[in-house]
Amino acid sequence: MTELPPFYDDLAGCLAEAWRRLEEGAAHQSGFHTPALATLGRDGAPRLRTVVLRGVDRDSRTVRVHCDARSDKAAEIAADPRAALHAYDPKAKLQVRIEGIARLHGQDAVARAAWEASRPMSRVCYGTVPGPGTPLPDGGAYAQPRDEAAVEAGFPAFRVIVLTAARLEFLYLARPGHRRAVFTWDGEEPGATWLAP
Ligand SMILES: Cc1cc2nc3c(=O)[nH]c(=O)nc-3n(C[C@H](O)[C@H](O)[C@H](O)COP(=O)(O)O)c2cc1C
Repeated sequence: MTELPPFYDDLAGCLAEAWRRLEEGAAHQSGFHTPALATLGRDGAPRLRTVVLRGVDRDSRTVRVHCDARSDKAAEIAADPRAALHAYDPKAKLQVRIEGIARLHGQDAVARAAWEASRPMSRVCYGTVPGPGTPLPDGGAYAQPRDEAAVEAGFPAFRVIVLTAARLEFLYLARPGHRRAVFTWDGEEPGATWLAP
């Protein structure tokens, strides 16, 4: 017999498990460390890319990701803040999908705190010239900052994306029967219901 987890038939438990796994992902400990972030392209088409999950706050229902102000994703969020995040951990057999509104923080207290908490290795990207997505004559035709002052000069390009969940969908795969649930915060009252998997 497969042993079923305590959240298996517990809606509130499923939501708590989703946040717990996301928190683990932000702390580098799970398959949720590198989710995919979706935005809407300026032509309305979906755009998707891998990101590092940097922070999670279940009380404010937010997840935090870092990016470059010069990137497509930053421009797309500025133009239309609707965004989604997808994570799947094959070991946990758990998929979490978050949909909501993303807010960009640059050169404010949120960005400064995230910058200070970042490792120097992570800060280097923001000083890269030319900016991400610029066509290059050859693959190595870009420069990275070489000293601490040059790394610090990248701060104006640093952006924090804070995505607030309006909808969180949970899917747990289990041989005796999958469990799928959706949690919403976009109505007058928070909503929670099981869904057919
Ligand atoms: C494992 C992994 C982690 C990544 N983490 C980030 C990230 O945290 N932030 C980011 O902007 N790009 C990250 N990238 C790069 C993006 O996937 C993407 O290629 C790049 O940001 C350009 O996306 P855009 O043109 O849609 O903005 C990561 C890529 C990989 C493979």
